[in-house]
Amino acid sequence: MSDPNKLFDGIAQADNRMPVWYTWSFVATMIIGVCYLGYYHVATDFQQEEEYAATMAEYKEMFPEKEVVVDASKGNPLAGNPEAIAAGEQTFQQICAACHKADGTGLIGPNLTDKEWLHGNSDVALFNVIMEGVSMEQVKQNPPKGPMPPHKASLGAEKVWQVIAYLQNKNKNIKSAGQ
Ligand code: HEC
Repeated sequence: MSDPNKLFDGIAQADNRMPVWYTWSFVATMIIGVCYLGYYHVATDFQQEEEYAATMAEYKEMFPEKEVVVDASKGNPLAGNPEAIAAGEQTFQQICAACHKADGTGLIGPNLTDKEWLHGNSDVALFNVIMEGVSMEQVKQNPPKGPMPPHKASLGAEKVWQVIAYLQNKNKNIKSAGQ
């Protein structure tokens, strides 16, 4: 082989220098790296935990956490809350009135304004029925009413507690499990 750049299969390997801009950008990354190290770890006492906590605090202020209403064992966290009652009434009229009648006295679904309860009269009992619904299987075991659709996915805990706040406001027979 006379030409060292020519390989046996005839493919030539061009051993050019790297482009100048490329070499300099490599040098620049090294300089930036040294500056970064010097700035954050030597010159200033930057603490990543503190920075994280400060950013999180700022974020929480911008987007205040809504009260998480999933702990059903403590009863309705929105009971007696006037805004919740108003919002609950709207939801009730939109979704529940079709089966429970606009005034809650019952159509295919039972009366929710009286003292008779198929599944118990605590707010937690209502929460479970509204969230999980009543399946056909349960109805067969415990006639005479029909099935009720679950609202866990369509409404979620907060809206369901609002509806219960509305019902509790109408019907003093509904006990709060939290008391
Ligand atoms: C498709 C009709 C339908 C819709 C919509 C519906 N329900 Fe029902 N609901 C029923 C039926 C039927 C029952 C009786 C289930 C049984 O046999 O146990 C029931 C039962 C209940 C019970 C239990 C009553 C008791 O005596 O223990 C509550 C509380 C209730 N519904 C609230 C609601 C609320 C609040 C909504 C709206 C978010 C709603 N329901 C939407 C049909 C419906």
